[in-house]
Amino acid sequence: MSGDRSVSPDRHELTPETVWHIDMPEIRFGRDAADELAFQLRDLGVPDGAGGLLVTDEGLVSAGHADRVAGHLDEAGFAVDVYEDCEREPSIGAVEDCIDLVNAETEDGYDFYVGLGGGSVLDTAKTTRAVVANGGEPLDYVAAPTGEGEPLTEAGPPLVLLPTTAGTGSEISPVAILSVPDEQIKEGISSNHVRADAAVLDPTLTTTLPPEQTAKTAMDALGHAIEGYTTHEYDSLLRASDPGDRPVYGGRTPLTEMFSEKAIELLSTNVRKAVHNGDDLEARENMLLGALFGAISGLTAGASLCHAMAYPVGNRYHTYHGETIAVLTPASTIEYNAASDPERFADLAELFGVDTTGLSNAAAAAALKDEYVQLQRDLGVLPSGLTELAGITAEDLDWLAAQTVDTQERLLRCNPRPVTEAAVRDVFEAALHNWQE
Ligand SMILES: [Fe+2]
Repeated sequence: MSGDRSVSPDRHELTPETVWHIDMPEIRFGRDAADELAFQLRDLGVPDGAGGLLVTDEGLVSAGHADRVAGHLDEAGFAVDVYEDCEREPSIGAVEDCIDLVNAETEDGYDFYVGLGGGSVLDTAKTTRAVVANGGEPLDYVAAPTGEGEPLTEAGPPLVLLPTTAGTGSEISPVAILSVPDEQIKEGISSNHVRADAAVLDPTLTTTLPPEQTAKTAMDALGHAIEGYTTHEYDSLLRASDPGDRPVYGGRTPLTEMFSEKAIELLSTNVRKAVHNGDDLEARENMLLGALFGAISGLTAGASLCHAMAYPVGNRYHTYHGETIAVLTPASTIEYNAASDPERFADLAELFGVDTTGLSNAAAAAALKDEYVQLQRDLGVLPSGLTELAGITAEDLDWLAAQTVDTQERLLRCNPRPVTEAAVRDVFEAALHNWQE
């Protein structure tokens, strides 16, 4: 047990937590698992002849993946409408378009929903199902103060998600991220009722992802694994007064520990192959597995400072989530947080393949940072820092730090090392240039 108790549930006892739990969708994994989607839907209670909505985007329609899934459902006797206008980093308005389609085409929603795509598509599908089932509009359920923070009380009909990137973990997470353009912020709807009922992970859906997106999404997956590995332990929190009071991000457990270790190994040893040779199905399969394991760890134990800092950057500069995570990880998750538990960061360095023989814990953490940066450089498609990413300079850092502290409390509370606005600004500054060209 150690240190920070700041993420303890609001209603708690004055003794340490002794119980952890994990909520997961059903998981179906492997080559051609997508061809078992109809079986999966029936297994969730969807009756023959039911009508569903396939939420996807134009890129997946062009690549043929949407036709493959829609054709499969059609053959199985389901009636499927397709919504293909999902946008990257979806805004509230874009999700409302999808909800409008549901309301125009159905009396009270479809019998089932399927999301096929990257994290943005999956978040659109999750939000649509939840809002249609609970009524109102997305902002009613977005965390306060941006939204009303109302609880979702209805799960809605079955939702199955098929990720086409090895990265976000949205297929298993209880969070949907939306951007609120007027306020230049990203916010989440966070609830077990947002989580999908099943995730179908098929590596053959990921081979058409171009190198750049493969690299960016991989760094997001790696971020989840590292943040899950280095966050506080579940029993450093105070015990919830009621089992329902436990936070969604509950700290690391023996289970998340196992998944983060395997995720770091799978992702760090396969990412170069997947980026440089997208047709390498074995590497793609290992990446998808690594991303799943990273999500099981990080999105259960809790993402932290790096993710908190990434949202204001992404929203203001419209950068991809994964490349933002990539740029911020060395200064935040590694350099800043290493002080929270130096021995753990030395272990993390070993998981990354760093030879730590004879190194102090601090030197091992420094070597880990070097190794991580070298990995990014080897991929050849990632920016060297915030400046290359989006032209961000020292002048922008006060705004970014203030936004992070003001809007990302949900994640900052989970950081293993206490955070101040001044510290966040320093971390942003260190991330301007991770290497010089
Ligand atoms: Fe992420």
